[in-house]
Order: sequence, then structure tokens, then C-alpha cells
Amino acid sequence: MVTAVAQRLASQRKEIDDTLATFTLSTTQLQEVKAKMRVELERGLKKDTHPTASVKMLPTYVYRTPDGTERGKYLALDLGGTNFRVLVVKIRTGMRNSVRMYNKIYAIPLEIMQGTGEELFDHIVQCISDFLDYMGMKNTRLPLGFTFSFPCNQTDLVSWTKGFKATDCEGYDVVDMLREAIKRRNEFDLDIVAIVNDTVGTMMTCAYEDPKCQIGLIAGTGSNVCYMEEMKNIELVEGDEGQMCVNTEWGGFGENDNIEDIRTRYDREVDGGSLNPGKQRFEKMTSGMYLGEIVRQILIDLTKRGLLFRGRITERLKTKGIFETKFLSQIERYSSHLWHKLRSILQSLGLDSTCDDSIIVKEVCGAVSRRAAQLCGAGMAAIVDKIRENRGLDHLEITVGVDGTLYKLHPHFSTILKDTVRELAPNCKVDFILSEDGSGKGAALITAVIDKYLYAMRFSDETLRDIMARFRREMENGLGGDTNPTATVKMLPTFVRSIPDGSEKGDFIALDLGGSNFRILRVKVSHEKKQTVQMESQIYETPEDIIHGSGSRLFDHVAECLGDFMEKQKIKDKKLPVGFTFSFPCAHSKLDEAVLLTWTKRFKASGVEGMDVVKLLNKAIKKRGDYDADIMAVVNDTVGTMMTCGFDDQRCEVGIIIGTGTNACYMEELRHIDMVEGDEGRMCINTEWGAFGDDGTLEDIRTEFDREIDRGSLNPGKQLFEKMVSGMYMGELVRLILVKMAKEGLLFEGRITPELLTKGKFETKHVSAIEKSKEGLTKAKEILTRLGVEPSEDDCIAVQHVCAIVSFRSANLIAATLGAILTRLKDNKNSPRLRTTVGIDGSLYKMHPQYSRRLHKTVRRLVPESDVRFLLSESGSGKGAAMVTAWASRLADQTRQIHSTSIS
Ligand code: G6P
Ligand code: G6P
Ligand code: BGC
Ligand code: BGC
Repeated sequence: MVTAVAQRLASQRKEIDDTLATFTLSTTQLQEVKAKMRVELERGLKKDTHPTASVKMLPTYVYRTPDGTERGKYLALDLGGTNFRVLVVKIRTGMRNSVRMYNKIYAIPLEIMQGTGEELFDHIVQCISDFLDYMGMKNTRLPLGFTFSFPCNQTDLVSWTKGFKATDCEGYDVVDMLREAIKRRNEFDLDIVAIVNDTVGTMMTCAYEDPKCQIGLIAGTGSNVCYMEEMKNIELVEGDEGQMCVNTEWGGFGENDNIEDIRTRYDREVDGGSLNPGKQRFEKMTSGMYLGEIVRQILIDLTKRGLLFRGRITERLKTKGIFETKFLSQIERYSSHLWHKLRSILQSLGLDSTCDDSIIVKEVCGAVSRRAAQLCGAGMAAIVDKIRENRGLDHLEITVGVDGTLYKLHPHFSTILKDTVRELAPNCKVDFILSEDGSGKGAALITAVIDKYLYAMRFSDETLRDIMARFRREMENGLGGDTNPTATVKMLPTFVRSIPDGSEKGDFIALDLGGSNFRILRVKVSHEKKQTVQMESQIYETPEDIIHGSGSRLFDHVAECLGDFMEKQKIKDKKLPVGFTFSFPCAHSKLDEAVLLTWTKRFKASGVEGMDVVKLLNKAIKKRGDYDADIMAVVNDTVGTMMTCGFDDQRCEVGIIIGTGTNACYMEELRHIDMVEGDEGRMCINTEWGAFGDDGTLEDIRTEFDREIDRGSLNPGKQLFEKMVSGMYMGELVRLILVKMAKEGLLFEGRITPELLTKGKFETKHVSAIEKSKEGLTKAKEILTRLGVEPSEDDCIAVQHVCAIVSFRSANLIAATLGAILTRLKDNKNSPRLRTTVGIDGSLYKMHPQYSRRLHKTVRRLVPESDVRFLLSESGSGKGAAMVTAWASRLADQTRQIHSTSIS
């Protein structure tokens, strides 16, 4: 009898041991996990494997950890862990350990976590409102850092994890959703500056104390890691220099079935009953939200098999979520001989246990949490070894900033984790420091460190497509007879009806006014065997007092320069046909009549707007009386560029300028142009896209700096798109951002020099120099030193970052407007694919080291159904103007002939 009982007990024991053995991982198994994790880290970083990688390695755009010089007052939200918290964080001037925080915890009821997105964000904003009241801060518009502990692609929520499942949020911009909820409440305003993952917030919080901290680990409700990766390894982000923090989202590890060998049936059961089956498999084996669930599944199974709770499954045990991390931690805190304490914990959970039961429950908890800590350790070993190899070191010393209830409350988790890392990464000395203040402080630090003003300048493809659609509508408005009078994008007919056909010839003069240079050219097109073009040109000054003086003085100056040029060319006695590239918006009723609608860019001569510039120039020439000229055509520089490029490539049907100003022209079907009679054939339309947004259509994407630029310009309220993208304004935009950042102590240790405050001191050519991939940082140092600010290494990196964001925004916006033109051309041709050439010119496009590549890439992404050739106009628009003139003078000759024959 005794032996029978003993045998039964022994066999029961064996069953229990066998069950728990499935949770025991050998060193070899852990090494395999480490190796597989390493593979996934690499796959997540590489462009071609990223889409299918289970570990997403999301770029965070956090380029550096804090250095103790941060300062300011920030609001922070902290959502996604056990508690939702609203905080205000005050960082005092330039000293470490000088952060003060006030916070309040708010509940998020389950029905809100899993309700609609709108309800969730309304609730968040209601909590902020309460907090601001509580702090008496409703009227101070503070910058806000948002710790949002879910996977985000920049600011777009990739997917909910853990206990959240609010509808209509996945794939949407978190900043937008928060901003809209703030708008709905209509009670206060906030500048949402940064969205930060909790791992990143934790790393930043800890790095503030320990500069060696370059990894952030969360072992809490969820599980995740971030670390500082070399830029050159992050293929999803442009640029090779320096580092960027990558949010690994390692919780997704295993989603491609590569750790099935170590998953147990209990893991599968937990997964199946979760809000996101199949997803976050590693997280479900390692984090607080699921460990209790695994334990519960095992207990149910053991009970069913009669090994526990006398075979009785109670309602309590059937309740999902009864084992919270804190109970798991409590159960494991007591050694088995304190079984009565264990029992009372189980009792508080509503589980009535015998002494044996409580010991078994404790063993189950131990097996599950031990495996969790070991798995995290194996993952961490993969990361530290990668960092060590990145830096080419035999030995690495590094600090991990850690947070999370599992790590903090569990009695053994941290020890097992550390032991595992030591065993699996013997060449790394890894210190773990606990984040005392949660990630809210880190979010505030990030808000302070970088990107404070730059978030609004980054656009998702979705936004760009939206801008593309808006511009498409603007084009339609400009073309329509009814809508044209009030349209902002003027879509001006140019009376140029085709690109050069190769038959042009003659001797021409071209004037080229409106870009960075005023140039006069002589263009000889001859036609021996093949068409050849000879050009000579001279640049003339256009002093500021002339371009801002009276119109008659300006045209006298032009006429004088032309006289000088003809004198030098010894053609003063000839009456050569003149083509006039005049790079401003003009209304034409024929080629040689051009009424200036409005000055743009640097020009503001009085008495010219509303006048025909051909008449004004003729008058000035006549007044001199020393030579004669026949102005046959006025062309916009975009048109000149299209014609110049069309000379080499017959397919060219678009011309764009990205220089001092910006604009585009293209060949439109005459039947769509209500302003011009006739339906056959095509005519070039000068879009004057610089005015896009003048009616408020771009207000949502304009920043305070754009507004400041506009206010200080010669034409406030006008050319708003141009002011966001073109060369005349880009350096100034960067300067304004730098001033603001310096004022807040984010740059140059708060030093602001008179040079930095001087308009125009930071030029677009400086942006180009700083963005050069090799010598960019050295250039930044030179340029900033000249401004007297004594930049640190980090300042140079930050300034490079600012330049990149501003110039990238420009390329992206141009890609959107050009994309609209291309899709229109494609629709006009009624073909599934567009094959075309875009002629392009302008100093920004030509000089900036990255601009053209970024533009081309974005255009291809936005208009995938096109094959676009971008052709740089090597010889400016003068040649193109000559082509138009050739055509005009041929037409004039023909008319004259017809006229003379009809008279005789
Ligand atoms: C930090 C952060 C939270 C984060 C949490 C993880 O303290 O401030 O936002 O999510 O750690 O821990 P938990 O265990 O609460 O998920
Ligand atoms: C071409 C034209 C200019 C034009 C310029 C734009 O070269 O000949 O008339 O305005 O490009 O570039 P920029 O950078 O000088 O404004
Ligand atoms: C989320 C991570 C987060 C982690 C820890 C995971 O579920 O996907 O973004 O860092 O939980 O809170
Ligand atoms: C003008 C356009 C011109 C563009 C590029 C803009 O300011 O309005 O006519 O094509 O600059 O030079």
C-alpha cells in the first residue's frame, strides 16, 4: 500500500518534472537563441530583408544620448506600461542631477484600451487637462514628449501590443491622433515634439547619469530593447556618419517560426488566447503580461491531470490574467519552507491550495520566470556582441539602462539575466542600472536634445501623396475658366507650343534675368551637317538698389548692359532677335507680350507689376537710341530649361527650377486650357507652383519658421510653397532653427552671437557644404566657427541633422508637386505607364550633394507607374530661350512674307 502511494507520488512527481523540463534551456539552446537573434537583428537593419524580418529594428532618429547640457520645462506622457502617467519635467541649466519632476498616475479602463482610437485619445487629453489644472499650467504652451510604448515607424503606430487594442489607430500617426484630440477638446494647446519608445526613454534617463549607457531594456508588461547603432548599418536611413538609436522591437522575435523548437504547448495556448495571436512570440515568453498566463495554463493542465488542486479547476483558475507579475514575484520571493506564506498569496488569488500545491505552484513560477530571464539574457548577449563587433573591439564595457516591473519586482529575474549575459557574451562587461524615474524623464530629455522643432518637417509618404493630390486640384483650378480667376496656382499659358525640332537656326541674343545671375548671351545655331549651337555669355551685376528701386531704372540698367554686350560683340549696328528669359510670373497673350503679375524672390522694383516687360525694355532701349533690338519672345526660366533639354532629348515635356526660386512648366493639352482658344495640340503651361499654399492650403504643414521667413520676406503672404523649398530661403530656415535651439540651450551651450542673429549669414550653399557625406562635419565646424559659436562635435552633428531635415523636406515637397504634374501627363496620354524626361536646373538642385538623389527616389516612390529621366540643363535657359526665339522669328518672317505677297 505504502509503495503504491509512493509509486503514485513518484510518477506524479515525474510528470510534473517532465512538464517543467520543457522550460529548461541548456547553454547550447541559449547560444542558439543568441545566434538566431543576431541573424534577425541584421535582417531588420538591411533594406531587402527588413520587410520580412521579425525583429523590426525601427530607426528612432535619436542621434545621441544627453550630455548634461539639456535644459527647459517639458510636459511628458507615459503610456503603455502598467501605469499611464502625465508629468512635468524641469531640467535646470546645464547641470546633471538637476531634474525635477511632478507626475500623476491616471487609470485607463479596459473598455478604453480596447475601445475606439478616438475614445482612447480623448481620454488621454482629458487626463492631460486634469493634470494641467492640477499644476495650474493650462495657459503655458509647453513642448510635449510622449513615451508611447508600442512599435512606431517614426510617428506611425505599427501595431498595438500587450493589452491595447483600440480601433483605427494602427497605421496612423500618433502625433496626429493626439493633436486632433487636443483640437477636439479645444481647451489648451501643446507642441508635440517627440514620440519616444519606453526603451529609448529609459536609455536616455540612464544615460543622463551614466554616459556609458547606450542600451535600454524593458522587462515589464512587455519586453523590448533599444541601443545605439552605427548609422552606416541602418539601411533604412540615409547617411553613414555617427550613430542612431534603434528600437529593436525584439518582442516580435519568433514570428517567423524560428524558435518553435523551444516554444511549449503552453506558450501556444497563451498566444492563441491573446489579443494578437501569432505576434510578439518572444515577448509572450519573456514579459510580465504573459508569464502569469503561462503559469496559469500549466496549472490548469496539471490540475486536469490530477496533479494539483485535487483535480478541481475552480472558476478563479479559469480567469485570464489572475497571475499578475507582482504575484509571480511574491510567490517566488518565499522559499518553499515558508509554504504557509505561499499559501496565503494563493488564497488571496482565490486558489485554495495544500502545502504540496503551493510548492508545485512555486516551482512552476520558477521554471517560467527562469526561462524568461535566460531568454532575455540570450537576446541581450546578441546585442552587446553586435555592438562590440561594430566597434571592432575585443572587449566591450557598456551599460544597460533597465526598467519594468518584472525586472524591478521579481526576486531572481535580474540575477539570472545578468548571469546569462555573462555566460553567453564573455567578451563584454555589461553593467545594468535601474532607471529610477521611468521613461518620462527620458522622453523630456529627448524632447530637449533634438528634433524639438523638426518633427513637423518630416513627411510620411501618405502625407506626400496627400500634398500631391492637393496640388493636382490646384492645377485643375488654374486651368479651368471659371476657377482660374481665384486660383492661387496660376497655370499661365506660355504660347510655346512645341519643343525644338532640330530645324532652328540663326543668330540670337538671350537675356536671362531673375536667377542668381543676370546673364546676356549670344547664341548661334547653325545647320551645316548637323545642328550646332555656339554660345558666348557675360554676367552682369544687379545691385540691390537697382532691383529694389524704380522699374525704369531697372530696365535702363538692363538696356545698358545689353548695349555693353552688343558693343563687345561688335553687333551694335545689327538688329538681332532677342529672347528674354524673365524668371517671374507673367501673363502672356502672345509670345512677345508678358505682363508681370508680381515680383518674387529678391526683386521688388516699383511700377513694373501689371506692365508688359517687353514694352518697358523697348522703351528703355529706344530712350538710349544707340542700338536697336527685336524682342521676339519672353520665356520663363522653366520654359527655357525645358527647351534647352528638349534640344537634346525629344521626350522632354517638363521643365523645373530648384534654385533661388522654384517653379515648373509642362506641356498641357490645349483642349484643357480654357484660357486659350483652340483644342488641337499642346501648349506649355508655366504653373508658377511657388504660389501653392497662398490660400492656406498648406497651413497644416507650415512651421513657425516658415511663418517667420514669410514675415521677413519682400512679399509676405505670397509664394509660400517657394519659401518652404527654394534656395533663397533654405539657409535662412536653418539659421532660424539654430537660433531657436541655441536660445533653448540645445546648441552651442546656449551661446548666441550677433553673426548667428544676422539675416542671411547662413546661406543655402552652407547647407550643401554641411551635408557633404565625407567632409560635412568639418565644414559644419568651419561655418559655425565663422559664426562665432564655438561648436562642439555634437553641435556639428545636430546642425547637420537640421540641414538634412530642411533640405529633405524641400526635396520631398518638390517630389509631391512634380508627382502631380507627372500623373496629370500620364492621364492626359491615357497610358498605363508614363515615359518622360524632366529638364531641370537651379543652384540648389545642382550644388546640394544629396538633393537630386532624394528627389529622384521620392518621385519614383510616389509615381511608381512612371519612368522618368531627369536631365540637367547644362547651359542654363538661355539656349532654350534662343530656340523659342528662333521659332518666333521664323513665324514672324513667314507672316511678313504673307503680308508682303498679299500687298503686292
Ligand atoms: C517605465 C516607463 C513605462 C514603461 C515601463 C515598463 O517606467 O516609464 O512607460 O512602459 O517602464 O514597465 P511596466 O512593467 O510598467 O510595463
Ligand atoms: C537657369 C537659368 C536662370 C534660372 C536659373 C535658376 O540656369 O538660366 O535664368 O533662373 O537656372 O537657378 P538659380 O539657382 O540661379 O536661381
Ligand atoms: C512594445 C514595445 C515596448 C515594450 C515594453 C512591447 O509590447 O511593442 O514597443 O517597448 O512592449 O513596454
Ligand atoms: C518665379 C518663377 C520662376 C522661379 C524660378 C519664382 O519665384 O515666380 O517664375 O520660374 O522663381 O526661378
